[in-house]
Amino acid sequence: MDLFASTKTSASTLNVYTCETCHRRTEGERPDLILPGATLAGAARRPHYWGGKEPALLKSINDCRFFFMGSRKEWTASDADAVHVYAALTDLDKRATPALREPQPFTVVTSFGDLSGGDATRGAVLYRRACGYCHGAAAGGQEPTGLGRITDRAPLLPDDTIASHLSYVPRDQMRLVFIEKVRHGSFLGYSGIMPPFSREVLSDTDLRDILAYLRL
Ligand code: HEC
Ligand code: HEC
Repeated sequence: MDLFASTKTSASTLNVYTCETCHRRTEGERPDLILPGATLAGAARRPHYWGGKEPALLKSINDCRFFFMGSRKEWTASDADAVHVYAALTDLDKRATPALREPQPFTVVTSFGDLSGGDATRGAVLYRRACGYCHGAAAGGQEPTGLGRITDRAPLLPDDTIASHLSYVPRDQMRLVFIEKVRHGSFLGYSGIMPPFSREVLSDTDLRDILAYLRL
């Protein structure tokens, strides 16, 4: 079985993600999408992971399984699936550029500049590339057709999120909810299964334009 393309790397029945939901195997694959995770080719030989926070490859994969895929059981080095994934990563290493064997940048954004304004037309394209493959079409689904949600747990943007926060977040500060979520995913006190987008993956300008498109 191709485990990178399987939802079975987590035993959670709620899991809808595969490794490929968030990672490219090799550089240049699916250039239309903006994915939050680093390219997998080269990972087998990187000296550390998660922007230097994690020294061990197996733990860095178990983190994805735990935080995003709802797995409450860590793989040990001798688990059949872990052995299989390690073999697949070693095989992919043949297709890695030297730069992919280096640590990959992953800067968690903790302070935000002024993200008001923005280019909604550019934001529409970025929304589709970075958010649409999980959230489906924005603004009630008028466009673009064919963009479905990966799970019912992913709210329709921005409507569902505005509705669920309106009782305690003033409408003119709603963009903060979106900024915090995109930058931290399910970390830093935020629950859920959404991955964080680092500054390298999505710049502040990109995020600002997405917010403009969502009319926040
Ligand atoms: C929902 C998105 C998501 C899913 C699903 C996911 N990951 Fe990740 N993964 C991330 C993010 C975000 C990071 C942190 C950024 C980074 O370093 O790549 C990460 C980090 C990693 C890293 C460390 C890469 C590095 O150089 O820092 C590896 C290896 C990895 N994931 C492998 C996997 C494997 C194998 C699977 C499937 C079992 C998987 N991931 C599932 C989002 C995901
Ligand atoms: C890999 C799938 C995935 C991607 C990519 C993704 N999201 Fe999410 N997002 C989810 C899921 C699932 C939830 C619901 C669970 C949770 O809160 O983590 C969610 C929740 C949210 C929420 C609700 C937060 C709250 O507190 O109610 C917002 C806002 C959001 N996402 C915005 C975005 C934006 C903007 C993008 C693109 C930059 C994006 N998401 C990309 C899966 C994703």
